[in-house]
Amino acid sequence: MSAGMEVADSLGMLRARVDAWKREGLRIGFVPTMGNLHEGHYSLVRLARENADRVVASIFVNPTQFGPGEDYERYPRTPEADVAGLSAAGCHLAWMPPLETMYPLGTARAVRVQVPGITGVLDGAHRPGHFDGVCTVVARLFNQVRPDVAVFGRKDYQQLAVIRHMVRDLAFPLELLGADIVREDDGLARSSRNQYLSAGERVLAPEIHRTLLAMRDAAQAGQGRRELEAEAVARLQAAGFVVDYAVLRTPLLVEPPESPVPGDDGQRVALVAARLGRTRLIDNLEFTLQGADS
Ligand code: PAF
Repeated sequence: MSAGMEVADSLGMLRARVDAWKREGLRIGFVPTMGNLHEGHYSLVRLARENADRVVASIFVNPTQFGPGEDYERYPRTPEADVAGLSAAGCHLAWMPPLETMYPLGTARAVRVQVPGITGVLDGAHRPGHFDGVCTVVARLFNQVRPDVAVFGRKDYQQLAVIRHMVRDLAFPLELLGADIVREDDGLARSSRNQYLSAGERVLAPEIHRTLLAMRDAAQAGQGRRELEAEAVARLQAAGFVVDYAVLRTPLLVEPPESPVPGDDGQRVALVAARLGRTRLIDNLEFTLQGADS
């Protein structure tokens, strides 16, 4: 618990506090969020604390990363509970910028940050423009907070890969950390979107994690990528999901070779995005093929 966590809602307040910490030589950790926080977010704050002297968490529901018909308007906003939870998790400063501070020229005239290639597949293909919006806001947040270390959840696997590309290419002077996925006892990955699930859908939802485990086991047993992906899609559809993708990829999200090739380090990630009713869930599982070159 950090006694007396501060809340900043103007750039002036944020900068004064961060400048003072920097003058003291303190290392600043940063956790960007869209609020409606849960245990998954608080685990990011705790990881930031382990790697920094002071932790800033932002709460900003970013309109530019929602497509038409997505849930920007109905995205749950729970600022009081979020501030209390951040404070209890040991955060030192909550950064809650108004829309006009984040986008002073309005969203239509905002400078955009676009990462090529990796944003065109998987979630990028199913949610056109989503990662442009994410990079556009995260670049602004990095400039505002000027952290030494920034923490993102591994549940949003592609987001972390895209941010990593942006940080490297734009030479943001910070270290990126990926935090492990936090799961419910039945395997469902924690997400703000889980609360949209009906009671019946909630019972079905852990099938995503079970499918990821089955994909991993099939890959370990030597099953070909196309076949195990087709089986994963069929399994999820049979359980009642509408499947956007269920795929096996390398860490850079390209298709792995069908059979072993020299120099393959065997690192893989199985990724699923699937809908139950109006709720879209994503999850992934990282693993290394047994017997791969290391
Ligand atoms: O992962 C999220 O919650 C958002 O995409 C982020 C990184 C806070 C940017 O709005």
